[in-house]
Amino acid sequence: MIAKIINGIKIAKKIQKKLKKKILLRKKNKLIIPGLAVVLIGNDPSSKIYVKNKKIACNKIGIISKIYHLNDQITEKKIIKKIKKLNQNKKIHGILVQLPLPKKINTLNILKKISYKKDVDGFHPLNTGLLCQRKPNLRACTPLGIITLLRKYKIRLKGMHALVIGASNIVGRPMMLEFLLEGCTTTITHRFTKNIYKYIKNADLIVIAIGKAKFLKGEWIKKGAIIIDVGINKLKNGKIVGDVDFDSIYKKASYITPVPGGVGPMTVISLLKNTIFACEKYYDKNS
Ligand code: GUN
Repeated sequence: MIAKIINGIKIAKKIQKKLKKKILLRKKNKLIIPGLAVVLIGNDPSSKIYVKNKKIACNKIGIISKIYHLNDQITEKKIIKKIKKLNQNKKIHGILVQLPLPKKINTLNILKKISYKKDVDGFHPLNTGLLCQRKPNLRACTPLGIITLLRKYKIRLKGMHALVIGASNIVGRPMMLEFLLEGCTTTITHRFTKNIYKYIKNADLIVIAIGKAKFLKGEWIKKGAIIIDVGINKLKNGKIVGDVDFDSIYKKASYITPVPGGVGPMTVISLLKNTIFACEKYYDKNS
């Protein structure tokens, strides 16, 4: 079996076109233009690139965006003050604090200060809780992007055994909740899981987000499984690869996402969607 490649770039471009039209229509109808604030703390090189890409994506469809770059010595109190100001800012409808934060900062303390109405990352405890209670509101971008990709490829999720490898707050945990919502039987493994292969060989669908280059091997998976790779790992030779050993998985899976060009573009598109959603739901005049 040779896997079909899930083309995240193509799907993201299609959605991008739709969102651009939506913003143009809002302008024509004299509705407010959605605004996104991205807060970057410190100088992590990957975070800097992600933040820049988010700004470029906003520009492309007409969302107004502003990056607030704070230095890594800043106190929690000062960050919270900035967030409170952004919560009050009428031109801003989405706030994203790029993660990870410097070690001395308590991430949850910061995330819960973002108004749940502007929480375009879906990391506020209220939005996480709503997803947990089957009432999704603003949803974490990478899991949402993955669900969108699977829908676009008409993959029927109900009843599937979905395995999430990696239990991070950003990807693994919200992904598990998204699969439950879709009617999957859901398993999540993490660094303390014993005999991970037992779960891998039984899974119809695997999402992996652990940051280990080429970890998942073709010989471990069920024939025809769907494999979604969230990893972005830089090899010594500079090449970017995922958490999946593409060459061996490709011959046994039914679908596979490439790295780059699979999940990545969908994460950014979900952020744009969430910003428009927040603007429409909470800030349009008759909302
Ligand atoms: N760092 C890696 N992924 C993400 C994400 O989706 N949102 C935020 N805020 N930070 C991240």
